[in-house]
Amino acid sequence: KCFIFLMIRFLLENISAKKLAEYKCDTNEAICLKLVRFPEDVDDDSTTFHPEYSHQLFGDDEVAFGYKGLQMKIFYTAGNLSTLFKVKYSSKVTDTFDCVEPDDVGGKIREIIPAGFTSSTDDFISLLEKEAKFKPFGTLLHSYTIHNEEAGELTYQIHKADITCPGFQEYHERLQTFLMWFIETASFIDTDDDRWDYFLVFEKYNKDGETLYATVGYMTVYNYYVYPDKTRPRVSQMLILPPFQGEGHGSQLLEAIHRFYCSLPKVQDITAEDPSENYVKLRDYVLSKLCQNLPSFAADKLPLGFSADMIKEAQEKLKINKKHARRVYEILRLRATDMSDEDQVKAYRLEVKKRLFGPYRKNQRELAKMKKCLRPEELVSHMGQMDTQTQQEELEKSYQHAVEDYRRIIERLASHA
Ligand SMILES: *[C@@H]1O[C@H](CO)[C@@H](O)[C@H](O)[C@H]1NC(C)=O
Repeated sequence: KCFIFLMIRFLLENISAKKLAEYKCDTNEAICLKLVRFPEDVDDDSTTFHPEYSHQLFGDDEVAFGYKGLQMKIFYTAGNLSTLFKVKYSSKVTDTFDCVEPDDVGGKIREIIPAGFTSSTDDFISLLEKEAKFKPFGTLLHSYTIHNEEAGELTYQIHKADITCPGFQEYHERLQTFLMWFIETASFIDTDDDRWDYFLVFEKYNKDGETLYATVGYMTVYNYYVYPDKTRPRVSQMLILPPFQGEGHGSQLLEAIHRFYCSLPKVQDITAEDPSENYVKLRDYVLSKLCQNLPSFAADKLPLGFSADMIKEAQEKLKINKKHARRVYEILRLRATDMSDEDQVKAYRLEVKKRLFGPYRKNQRELAKMKKCLRPEELVSHMGQMDTQTQQEELEKSYQHAVEDYRRIIERLASHA
């Protein structure tokens, strides 16, 4: 620490702030990612994409110090994800002239990309020629097509793999590096644990008359044990690579894993670990799509409330967790609600607010308990947080927010009907 302090003083005395700033680079811009199918892709900037996050390696400022014009290229072959890693810059500070050392940016990247990458573009191009031999890992679960404006009809496959598939462990190490750039709180999983399931999405494409496979995205699921003889698969990580986002692969993947686990009697229901807002929206959509055809969710049953039949049917037929089934019920009921009928609208609002009020009710019970054991001056600070007026406003806000989200899901259901 003392050394750093001295170094900072030294810096301030020797280099003007302006010069310092010139040697700072935004690491989200400096890191260039690419999925390469053809040799000409290597120099085509239009296929480059950048991280959304790099704070796990470069700190909360997402800045690297010591270089001008820094570029860290991490390019992957489209299927096997064989890696090219190169650092370029136009100039860097030196300890002889500038009395300061540049950040070891290469060392930071090497912390997450597995050994075995190449730094030579020529070697990378020859790895690209081997891509024709790359075949998806594991067993085929599902295949689907999507119409693409430029390329026409494209075919995708979802495979289930496990760590014993030859070459998969190493491939997964390369694949998971993307988590660091696109999931804010990503961490790598312990693949020695055999309770992990891996689901992979591939796109089929044509190169010189042959069919090749490109990696699109993946999901990891952990099989939790539930007493006495059940499991509860929990979705841990899910990533659709940026060039493929917004095309519907996430919902295909989630639907496919529900269908896969449905066939296993020991599975109780499917949950998710610390889901993001986007994941919840995706799940709401997929589960609503699946449940809308179940008899217990029929339009005439919805106004009667969230029923034990709904819970049972969603769980038994689709392995849907009770909490998620409740959201599906609210979505499908909103869809079936006649918005010009005041009574129906009011009944719907009450029903949703009743659920939203749950956590507040718990707060109130806790407050009542606290009153018995806290000193008056301590109680005052807790009271402030639970003022009724604010509670009502918060509740109304949550309700509006939920309904907005639900409407978007209903629109999406309608557009894919
Ligand atoms: C996939 O990548 C690994 C590591 O770079 C390499 O050993 C293997 O030969 C590659 N396989 C194909 C089919 O390109």
